[in-house]
Amino acid sequence: MKIALLGYGKMGKIIEKIAIDRKHEIVLKIDQDNLSELTKENLQRADVAIEFSTPHTALSNINNCLDAGVPIVVGTTGWLNDIPVIKQRCEDEGLAFIYGTNFSVGVNIFFHVNKMLAKIMNGYNYYDVQVEEIHHTQKLDSPSGTAITIAEGIINNLDAKQEWVNVLTAEGLEATDNVKADELLIESYRIDSVPGTHTVIYDSEVDSIEFKHTAHNRNGFALGAVMAAEWIQNRKGFYSVEDMFDFTLNNK
Ligand SMILES: NC(=O)c1ccc[n+]([C@@H]2O[C@H](COP(=O)([O-])OP(=O)(O)OC[C@H]3O[C@@H](n4cnc5c(N)ncnc54)[C@H](O)[C@@H]3O)[C@@H](O)[C@H]2O)c1
Repeated sequence: MKIALLGYGKMGKIIEKIAIDRKHEIVLKIDQDNLSELTKENLQRADVAIEFSTPHTALSNINNCLDAGVPIVVGTTGWLNDIPVIKQRCEDEGLAFIYGTNFSVGVNIFFHVNKMLAKIMNGYNYYDVQVEEIHHTQKLDSPSGTAITIAEGIINNLDAKQEWVNVLTAEGLEATDNVKADELLIESYRIDSVPGTHTVIYDSEVDSIEFKHTAHNRNGFALGAVMAAEWIQNRKGFYSVEDMFDFTLNNK
């Protein structure tokens, strides 16, 4: 498979390595220094594009790929308010698009179990719930896209919570002031070189239940993005990473 990489930062470089290990070829690499190479002709040399750039540049890169008719995998976070427009384009024009706030298999298992746990906790309303996320200090958006997906999974399944609120918290400080009972607090911490840690905490007077995912490095995100490129290559339509996985309970 021929791949165009849009964004050649920390993620782009790991995706390149994993794609080559899986026998794919990188035919285009775009970063902020060579944007003039982002032409329709160059994009059309690829079977699929993988976009991991910045919250402010993702939308324009996505539209360029859709204009060129190239299927695209999008991992960039912090731009998702614009997603309805992209969904409409894919449906109207028969284009292929898959996005995920987090492509790691482990996190997608976490997303699934998080929803099941929220449903269970409807019966035990003496627990309050909050989400914590920790990322490296260069991260541009807050809360993380992954934390937003976790929060949406809770809000859509737990009657007590209606919307999320975010507090970017200095290390060690508590940020629970001014959060209403029906609001779900997402506490964000920025600490050097942490690839991504997310914890859902149900707390009561008698005990706490903590459900946690810790990324040890970025390889899991990158492998999932390459798997998504393989998956979307011969499809049409608008997908989220959850469509790639089947977590149906079975006896295997
Ligand atoms: N979905 C996931 O699984 C997942 C995992 C990790 C990170 N992310 C997200 O991916 C994005 C990139 O993360 P990163 O750690 O590689 O960041 P990074 O800052 O290391 O890399 C971003 C790169 O984009 C480049 N860039 C700037 N303008 C550009 C443009 N117009 N076109 C193409 N590239 C451009 C920058 O020069 C930089 O090299 C972030 O939004 C991050 O939150 C998603």
